[in-house]
Amino acid sequence: MTPSAPQPSNDDAIARWNDIPRTALDAMGPDGDFAKRHLINPVLLRMLGDVRESRILDAGSGTGYLSRLLAARGARVTAVEPTGTMYAYACEQEAAQPRGVTYVRADITQLPPLEGEFDAVVCSMVLSTVPDWKPALRACADALRPGGQLIFTVNHPAFEQLLAPWRTHGAYRLTRYLEEYEIPQTHAPDYHRPLSAYLKELPPLGLHFTELAEPGLPPAVAEEAAPATPGIESYVHLTNFVVVAARKALRD
Ligand SMILES: C[S@@+](CC[C@H](N)C(=O)[O-])C[C@H]1O[C@@H](n2cnc3c(N)ncnc32)[C@H](O)[C@@H]1O
Repeated sequence: MTPSAPQPSNDDAIARWNDIPRTALDAMGPDGDFAKRHLINPVLLRMLGDVRESRILDAGSGTGYLSRLLAARGARVTAVEPTGTMYAYACEQEAAQPRGVTYVRADITQLPPLEGEFDAVVCSMVLSTVPDWKPALRACADALRPGGQLIFTVNHPAFEQLLAPWRTHGAYRLTRYLEEYEIPQTHAPDYHRPLSAYLKELPPLGLHFTELAEPGLPPAVAEEAAPATPGIESYVHLTNFVVVAARKALRD
């Protein structure tokens, strides 16, 4: 955002997400879309490790695909999603194929009391969609038990609009890395912030940074996808996402 641009509110952003069409939700698939299946989930699931019997909060759960994936692996999942559209969609999936996920319709910054603390909080592709995002990160930290793990993913701010510049220039171009600004997207905007904006907020919340991953696409997957998605090889050479893991400090 430029200093003169009006700051959209979190409610504005949620309203935009609420308008997402059903076709887009159906397109997500049970294991997430292409990027989630091949780039984000493998890293996120490795970082989480064995989730059996773990209490996990899926903060900003969207269609709930990740909640269902984790529940299928034995986690006890609470999913928080503020839009009526995606909350209803997730509840529908749960009714059709129960996985024991508890769905809560709420803004992550205004959580109703949830029973107990969580062993892990996943906040995937959410923080970069929230204009006033620091309270959302704080809510994730607050929900964790001491020693619990936070994993968040965002579009990699150095390569977030990867496909279009790659198709045009055969390289990535970025001119304003250190600024914060809105990036229009198909459904609701994303917010560019430098990586340090996120990482420097972890220690004040009692979160110890443990890992940062920049997943790349396996060349064989890119080759298979290339006919339908020209430029997909850019994901082999550059990274489109960043996955960050941190642990909440133990109490003395
Ligand atoms: C890009 S989608 C990601 C959804 C899901 N985590 C996934 O990986 O498919 C962004 C999600 O963040 C949610 N969101 C936006 N603002 C939020 C807020 N203040 N609290 C909780 N979720 C929010 C949106 O409703 C949307 O479901």
